[in-house]
Amino acid sequence: MEFFDLKDKKEALSWLLSTGEEARKLRQAAHEVKMAHVGNKVYLRALIEYSNVCRKNCYYCGIRSGNSAVRRYTVGKDEVLRAARFAHQAGFGSLVLQSGERQDEAFIRDIEELVDAMMQQSGGELGITLSLGEQKPETYARWKKAGAIRYLLRIETSSPGLYTRLHPAGHSFQARLDCLKSLRDAGYQVGSGIMIGLPFQSPEQVVEDVYFLKEMDVDMVGMGPYIEHPQTPLWEYRDRIPSKQERYDWSLNAWALLRLIAPDINIASTTAIGSLSPKGREEALYAAANVIMPNLTPFSCRKEYFLYEHKICIEESHEDSRENIERIIREAGCEPEYFSQGNSRHFHARFQGE
Ligand code: 5AD
Ligand code: SF4
Repeated sequence: MEFFDLKDKKEALSWLLSTGEEARKLRQAAHEVKMAHVGNKVYLRALIEYSNVCRKNCYYCGIRSGNSAVRRYTVGKDEVLRAARFAHQAGFGSLVLQSGERQDEAFIRDIEELVDAMMQQSGGELGITLSLGEQKPETYARWKKAGAIRYLLRIETSSPGLYTRLHPAGHSFQARLDCLKSLRDAGYQVGSGIMIGLPFQSPEQVVEDVYFLKEMDVDMVGMGPYIEHPQTPLWEYRDRIPSKQERYDWSLNAWALLRLIAPDINIASTTAIGSLSPKGREEALYAAANVIMPNLTPFSCRKEYFLYEHKICIEESHEDSRENIERIIREAGCEPEYFSQGNSRHFHARFQGE
Protein backbone atom coordinates (compact mmCIF):
# COMPACT_ATOMS: atom_id res chain seq x y z
CA MET A 1 0.00 0.00 0.00
CA GLU A 2 1.22 3.47 -0.77
CA PHE A 3 2.18 5.73 2.09
CA PHE A 4 -0.26 8.37 0.85
CA ASP A 5 -2.14 9.16 -2.34
CA LEU A 6 0.84 10.38 -4.34
CA LYS A 7 -1.40 12.38 -6.67
CA ASP A 8 -2.86 14.39 -3.82
CA LYS A 9 -0.82 17.58 -3.61
CA LYS A 10 -2.80 18.82 -0.58
CA GLU A 11 -1.73 15.77 1.34
CA ALA A 12 1.83 16.18 0.05
CA LEU A 13 1.74 19.73 1.43
CA SER A 14 0.79 18.56 4.90
CA TRP A 15 3.70 16.08 4.80
CA LEU A 16 6.06 18.81 3.60
CA LEU A 17 5.13 20.88 6.65
CA SER A 18 5.22 17.98 9.08
CA THR A 19 7.55 17.94 12.10
CA GLY A 20 8.31 15.54 14.96
CA GLU A 21 6.72 12.10 14.82
CA GLU A 22 4.85 12.83 11.56
CA ALA A 23 8.05 13.87 9.79
CA ARG A 24 9.78 10.78 11.13
CA LYS A 25 7.03 8.61 9.61
CA LEU A 26 7.38 10.32 6.23
CA ARG A 27 11.16 9.90 6.17
CA GLN A 28 10.87 6.27 7.26
CA ALA A 29 8.43 5.57 4.41
CA ALA A 30 10.82 7.21 1.95
CA HIS A 31 13.71 5.21 3.41
CA GLU A 32 11.83 1.98 2.73
CA VAL A 33 11.05 2.99 -0.86
CA LYS A 34 14.68 3.93 -1.33
CA MET A 35 15.85 0.53 -0.02
CA ALA A 36 13.43 -1.29 -2.31
CA HIS A 37 14.37 0.65 -5.48
CA VAL A 38 17.99 1.76 -5.23
CA GLY A 39 19.19 -0.12 -2.13
CA ASN A 40 21.51 1.09 0.61
CA LYS A 41 24.53 1.84 -1.60
CA VAL A 42 25.76 5.42 -1.75
CA TYR A 43 27.71 6.59 -4.79
CA LEU A 44 30.61 8.99 -4.37
CA ARG A 45 31.23 11.89 -6.74
CA ALA A 46 34.31 14.02 -6.29
CA LEU A 47 33.24 17.66 -6.56
CA ILE A 48 35.57 20.16 -8.19
CA GLU A 49 34.43 23.78 -8.10
CA TYR A 50 36.39 24.59 -11.22
CA SER A 51 35.85 28.35 -11.48
CA ASN A 52 33.86 31.11 -9.80
CA VAL A 53 33.91 33.30 -12.90
CA CYS A 54 30.27 33.74 -13.92
CA ARG A 55 28.50 35.85 -16.53
CA LYS A 56 25.21 35.60 -14.63
CA ASN A 57 23.96 37.73 -11.81
CA CYS A 58 21.40 35.63 -9.95
CA TYR A 59 20.03 37.58 -6.97
CA TYR A 60 20.64 34.75 -4.46
CA CYS A 61 24.18 33.74 -5.31
CA GLY A 62 27.40 34.89 -3.64
CA ILE A 63 29.55 34.52 -6.76
CA ARG A 64 27.20 36.50 -9.02
CA SER A 65 29.04 38.67 -11.52
CA GLY A 66 27.89 41.84 -9.73
CA ASN A 67 29.72 40.92 -6.51
CA SER A 68 32.97 42.80 -6.92
CA ALA A 69 34.24 41.62 -3.50
CA VAL A 70 34.92 38.13 -4.89
CA ARG A 71 38.43 37.18 -5.97
CA ARG A 72 37.86 35.24 -9.17
CA TYR A 73 39.75 32.01 -9.81
CA THR A 74 39.89 29.15 -12.28
CA VAL A 75 41.59 25.95 -11.16
CA GLY A 76 44.57 25.05 -13.35
CA LYS A 77 44.27 22.08 -15.68
CA ASP A 78 47.05 20.19 -13.90
CA GLU A 79 45.32 20.62 -10.58
CA VAL A 80 42.02 19.35 -11.98
CA LEU A 81 43.77 16.34 -13.46
CA ARG A 82 45.56 15.68 -10.19
CA ALA A 83 42.26 15.75 -8.29
CA ALA A 84 40.66 13.51 -10.91
CA ARG A 85 43.51 11.02 -10.62
CA PHE A 86 43.15 11.02 -6.84
CA ALA A 87 39.37 10.51 -7.11
CA HIS A 88 39.79 7.64 -9.55
CA GLN A 89 42.45 5.93 -7.45
CA ALA A 90 40.44 6.40 -4.26
CA GLY A 91 37.55 4.58 -5.96
CA PHE A 92 35.17 7.52 -6.12
CA GLY A 93 33.94 6.29 -9.50
CA SER A 94 32.82 9.65 -10.74
CA LEU A 95 33.50 13.34 -10.65
CA VAL A 96 31.46 16.54 -10.92
CA LEU A 97 33.00 19.56 -12.58
CA GLN A 98 31.02 22.61 -11.46
CA SER A 99 31.57 26.23 -12.31
CA GLY A 100 30.06 29.63 -12.84
CA GLU A 101 28.65 30.11 -16.32
CA ARG A 102 30.85 31.07 -19.26
CA GLN A 103 29.98 30.58 -22.91
CA ASP A 104 33.14 31.76 -24.67
CA GLU A 105 35.05 29.45 -26.97
CA ALA A 106 38.16 29.38 -24.75
CA PHE A 107 36.10 28.04 -21.86
CA ILE A 108 34.28 25.53 -24.04
CA ARG A 109 37.58 24.25 -25.39
CA ASP A 110 39.20 24.07 -21.94
CA ILE A 111 36.34 21.92 -20.65
CA GLU A 112 36.42 19.75 -23.75
CA GLU A 113 40.15 19.15 -23.28
CA LEU A 114 39.79 18.51 -19.56
CA VAL A 115 37.00 15.98 -20.03
CA ASP A 116 39.00 14.24 -22.73
CA ALA A 117 42.13 14.18 -20.54
CA MET A 118 40.23 12.82 -17.52
CA MET A 119 38.78 10.06 -19.70
CA GLN A 120 42.23 9.16 -21.06
CA GLN A 121 43.81 9.26 -17.64
CA SER A 122 41.22 6.96 -16.08
CA GLY A 123 41.01 4.57 -19.02
CA GLY A 124 37.42 5.70 -19.51
CA GLU A 125 36.45 4.53 -16.02
CA LEU A 126 35.62 7.85 -14.37
CA GLY A 127 31.99 8.91 -14.82
CA ILE A 128 32.06 12.63 -15.60
CA THR A 129 29.22 14.94 -14.61
CA LEU A 130 29.22 18.55 -15.73
CA SER A 131 27.43 21.41 -14.00
CA LEU A 132 28.37 24.42 -16.10
CA GLY A 133 25.12 26.21 -16.68
CA GLU A 134 23.24 27.16 -19.83
CA GLN A 135 25.01 26.44 -23.10
CA LYS A 136 24.20 26.03 -26.78
CA PRO A 137 23.14 22.55 -27.96
CA GLU A 138 26.41 22.34 -29.96
CA THR A 139 28.41 22.90 -26.77
CA TYR A 140 26.52 20.21 -24.89
CA ALA A 141 27.18 17.89 -27.84
CA ARG A 142 30.91 18.67 -27.87
CA TRP A 143 31.32 17.95 -24.16
CA LYS A 144 29.29 14.76 -24.52
CA LYS A 145 31.51 13.65 -27.35
CA ALA A 146 34.57 14.35 -25.20
CA GLY A 147 33.23 11.83 -22.68
CA ALA A 148 30.89 13.52 -20.16
CA ILE A 149 27.85 11.39 -19.34
CA ARG A 150 25.76 13.48 -16.98
CA TYR A 151 24.76 17.11 -16.71
CA LEU A 152 23.25 18.95 -13.79
CA LEU A 153 21.27 22.13 -14.42
CA ARG A 154 18.99 23.26 -11.64
CA ILE A 155 15.71 24.87 -12.56
CA GLU A 156 15.91 26.57 -9.10
CA THR A 157 12.11 27.04 -9.00
CA SER A 158 9.38 25.71 -11.27
CA SER A 159 7.40 28.94 -11.02
CA PRO A 160 8.16 31.25 -13.95
CA GLY A 161 6.92 34.21 -11.86
CA LEU A 162 9.23 33.44 -8.93
CA TYR A 163 12.10 32.74 -11.34
CA THR A 164 11.70 36.25 -12.69
CA ARG A 165 11.82 37.76 -9.19
CA LEU A 166 15.03 35.89 -8.37
CA HIS A 167 16.92 36.87 -11.51
CA PRO A 168 17.69 40.05 -13.40
CA ALA A 169 16.64 40.67 -17.00
CA GLY A 170 18.24 38.35 -19.51
CA HIS A 171 17.93 35.32 -17.23
CA SER A 172 15.09 33.34 -18.73
CA PHE A 173 13.06 30.49 -17.30
CA GLN A 174 12.20 29.33 -20.81
CA ALA A 175 15.87 29.30 -21.85
CA ARG A 176 16.61 27.05 -18.90
CA LEU A 177 13.82 24.66 -19.85
CA ASP A 178 15.13 24.62 -23.43
CA CYS A 179 18.59 23.74 -22.13
CA LEU A 180 17.20 20.85 -20.10
CA LYS A 181 15.52 19.58 -23.25
CA SER A 182 18.67 19.87 -25.35
CA LEU A 183 20.65 18.03 -22.67
CA ARG A 184 18.18 15.20 -22.89
CA ASP A 185 18.39 15.22 -26.70
CA ALA A 186 22.19 15.14 -26.49
CA GLY A 187 21.94 11.85 -24.56
CA TYR A 188 23.09 12.94 -21.11
CA GLN A 189 21.73 11.60 -17.86
CA VAL A 190 19.99 14.80 -16.89
CA GLY A 191 19.82 16.25 -13.42
CA SER A 192 18.00 19.25 -12.09
CA GLY A 193 17.00 20.68 -8.74
CA ILE A 194 15.50 23.47 -6.72
CA MET A 195 16.16 25.68 -3.73
CA ILE A 196 13.87 25.46 -0.72
CA GLY A 197 12.89 28.35 1.54
CA LEU A 198 13.54 31.20 -0.89
CA PRO A 199 12.05 34.64 -0.32
CA PHE A 200 8.57 34.89 -1.92
CA GLN A 201 8.33 31.07 -2.15
CA SER A 202 5.31 29.44 -0.53
CA PRO A 203 5.32 25.84 0.76
CA GLU A 204 2.66 25.10 -1.91
CA GLN A 205 5.22 26.16 -4.48
CA VAL A 206 7.80 23.77 -3.03
CA VAL A 207 5.32 20.92 -3.47
CA GLU A 208 4.79 22.03 -7.08
CA ASP A 209 8.57 22.03 -7.55
CA VAL A 210 8.93 18.46 -6.30
CA TYR A 211 6.20 17.28 -8.67
CA PHE A 212 7.75 19.29 -11.47
CA LEU A 213 11.02 17.35 -11.10
CA LYS A 214 9.03 14.14 -11.40
CA GLU A 215 7.16 15.42 -14.49
CA MET A 216 10.43 16.51 -16.08
CA ASP A 217 11.43 12.85 -15.79
CA VAL A 218 14.91 13.78 -14.54
CA ASP A 219 17.47 11.06 -13.86
CA MET A 220 19.05 12.78 -10.91
CA VAL A 221 18.38 15.62 -8.50
CA GLY A 222 20.59 17.97 -6.53
CA MET A 223 18.57 20.30 -4.35
CA GLY A 224 18.80 22.00 -1.02
CA PRO A 225 17.78 24.81 1.28
CA TYR A 226 18.27 28.42 0.28
CA ILE A 227 20.87 30.05 2.53
CA GLU A 228 21.24 33.82 2.55
CA HIS A 229 24.44 35.63 1.57
CA PRO A 230 25.19 39.22 2.65
CA GLN A 231 26.60 40.35 -0.71
CA THR A 232 23.44 39.56 -2.66
CA PRO A 233 20.26 41.54 -3.35
CA LEU A 234 18.13 38.90 -1.59
CA TRP A 235 19.92 39.57 1.73
CA GLU A 236 17.48 42.44 2.22
CA TYR A 237 14.65 39.91 2.48
CA ARG A 238 16.37 37.66 5.03
CA ASP A 239 13.69 38.36 7.64
CA ARG A 240 11.01 37.14 5.25
CA ILE A 241 12.22 33.61 4.74
CA PRO A 242 11.36 30.55 6.83
CA SER A 243 13.59 29.99 9.90
CA LYS A 244 16.68 27.79 9.54
CA GLN A 245 14.83 24.99 11.33
CA GLU A 246 11.87 25.29 8.95
CA ARG A 247 14.09 25.30 5.89
CA TYR A 248 15.88 22.27 7.23
CA ASP A 249 12.66 20.37 7.92
CA TRP A 250 11.05 21.34 4.63
CA SER A 251 14.17 20.27 2.77
CA LEU A 252 14.35 16.83 4.34
CA ASN A 253 10.62 16.38 3.84
CA ALA A 254 10.88 17.49 0.21
CA TRP A 255 13.66 14.93 -0.30
CA ALA A 256 11.44 12.22 1.19
CA LEU A 257 8.44 13.23 -0.96
CA LEU A 258 10.62 13.18 -4.06
CA ARG A 259 11.91 9.69 -3.25
CA LEU A 260 8.31 8.50 -2.79
CA ILE A 261 7.14 9.85 -6.15
CA ALA A 262 10.34 9.14 -8.13
CA PRO A 263 11.70 5.94 -6.54
CA ASP A 264 14.53 5.04 -8.92
CA ILE A 265 16.32 8.36 -9.55
CA ASN A 266 19.68 9.39 -8.10
CA ILE A 267 19.32 12.01 -5.38
CA ALA A 268 22.32 13.84 -3.95
CA SER A 269 22.82 14.73 -0.32
CA THR A 270 24.12 18.24 -0.93
CA THR A 271 26.52 20.62 0.79
CA ALA A 272 23.74 23.13 1.53
CA ILE A 273 21.81 20.74 3.80
CA GLY A 274 25.09 19.92 5.56
CA SER A 275 25.67 23.63 6.04
CA LEU A 276 22.35 24.07 7.90
CA SER A 277 23.02 21.24 10.34
CA PRO A 278 25.94 18.92 11.11
CA LYS A 279 23.56 15.97 10.76
CA GLY A 280 22.08 17.26 7.49
CA ARG A 281 23.85 15.13 4.92
CA GLU A 282 23.38 12.04 7.05
CA GLU A 283 19.65 12.58 7.54
CA ALA A 284 19.20 13.22 3.81
CA LEU A 285 20.99 9.94 3.06
CA TYR A 286 18.84 8.02 5.48
CA ALA A 287 15.55 9.30 4.10
CA ALA A 288 16.16 9.61 0.41
CA ALA A 289 19.57 10.40 -1.02
CA ASN A 290 21.94 7.86 -2.58
CA VAL A 291 24.75 10.13 -3.79
CA ILE A 292 27.28 12.21 -1.87
CA MET A 293 29.79 14.63 -3.34
CA PRO A 294 32.99 15.00 -1.30
CA ASN A 295 34.59 18.34 -2.11
CA LEU A 296 37.99 17.99 -3.81
CA THR A 297 38.42 21.62 -4.85
CA PRO A 298 41.96 22.81 -4.01
CA PHE A 299 41.82 24.49 -0.58
CA SER A 300 43.30 27.73 -1.91
CA CYS A 301 40.12 28.26 -4.01
CA ARG A 302 37.37 26.96 -1.75
CA LYS A 303 36.66 30.12 0.18
CA GLU A 304 36.09 31.91 -3.12
CA TYR A 305 33.33 29.51 -4.18
CA PHE A 306 31.18 31.06 -1.52
CA LEU A 307 27.62 30.68 -2.73
CA TYR A 308 25.97 31.28 0.67
CA GLU A 309 26.72 31.86 4.37
CA HIS A 310 28.24 29.14 6.57
CA LYS A 311 29.09 26.90 3.60
CA ILE A 312 30.91 23.82 4.90
CA CYS A 313 34.23 22.42 3.69
CA ILE A 314 35.75 25.86 3.27
CA GLU A 315 38.36 25.61 5.98
CA GLU A 316 41.15 23.10 5.71
CA SER A 317 39.25 20.59 7.80
CA HIS A 318 38.60 16.92 7.47
CA GLU A 319 34.89 17.48 6.86
CA ASP A 320 35.11 15.80 3.47
CA SER A 321 37.96 13.39 4.13
CA ARG A 322 37.30 9.87 3.03
CA GLU A 323 36.97 8.77 6.66
CA ASN A 324 34.40 11.41 7.48
CA ILE A 325 32.33 10.75 4.36
CA GLU A 326 32.38 7.03 5.17
CA ARG A 327 31.26 7.78 8.70
CA ILE A 328 28.35 9.92 7.44
CA ILE A 329 27.30 7.17 5.06
CA ARG A 330 27.51 4.41 7.65
CA GLU A 331 25.74 6.42 10.33
CA ALA A 332 22.89 6.80 7.86
CA GLY A 333 22.70 2.99 7.71
CA CYS A 334 24.14 2.91 4.19
CA GLU A 335 27.26 1.55 2.48
CA PRO A 336 29.68 3.47 0.27
CA GLU A 337 29.90 2.00 -3.22
CA TYR A 338 33.48 2.40 -4.39
CA PHE A 339 34.71 1.82 -7.95
CA SER A 340 31.29 2.39 -9.47
CA GLN A 341 30.09 5.19 -11.74
CA GLY A 342 26.72 4.94 -10.02
CA ASN A 343 24.60 5.69 -13.03
CA SER A 344 20.93 6.47 -12.59
CA ARG A 345 18.72 3.39 -12.66
CA HIS A 346 15.97 5.61 -13.95
CA PHE A 347 18.08 6.47 -16.99
CA HIS A 348 18.68 2.82 -17.84
CA ALA A 349 15.04 1.92 -17.21
CA ARG A 350 13.94 4.56 -19.73
CA PHE A 351 15.94 2.84 -22.47
CA GLN A 352 14.78 -0.62 -21.52
CA GLY A 353 11.19 0.60 -21.75
CA GLU A 354 11.66 1.89 -25.29
N1 5AD B 1 21.65 29.17 -1.18
C1 5AD B 1 21.56 27.89 -1.56
N2 5AD B 1 21.93 27.45 -2.78
C2 5AD B 1 22.43 28.36 -3.63
N3 5AD B 1 22.86 28.23 -4.88
C3 5AD B 1 23.28 29.44 -5.33
N4 5AD B 1 23.10 30.36 -4.37
C4 5AD B 1 22.56 29.70 -3.30
C5 5AD B 1 22.16 30.11 -2.01
N5 5AD B 1 22.24 31.38 -1.62
C6 5AD B 1 22.78 26.98 -5.63
C7 5AD B 1 21.91 27.14 -6.87
C8 5AD B 1 22.85 26.87 -8.02
C9 5AD B 1 23.94 26.06 -7.36
C10 5AD B 1 25.25 26.14 -8.06
O1 5AD B 1 24.05 26.60 -6.07
O2 5AD B 1 20.87 26.17 -6.83
O3 5AD B 1 22.26 26.16 -9.07
FE1 SF4 C 1 26.35 32.15 -11.69
FE2 SF4 C 1 25.17 29.84 -10.95
FE3 SF4 C 1 25.66 31.78 -9.15
FE4 SF4 C 1 23.76 32.15 -10.99
S1 SF4 C 1 23.76 30.55 -9.37
S2 SF4 C 1 25.31 33.65 -10.40
S3 SF4 C 1 24.63 31.11 -12.77
S4 SF4 C 1 27.18 30.60 -10.28
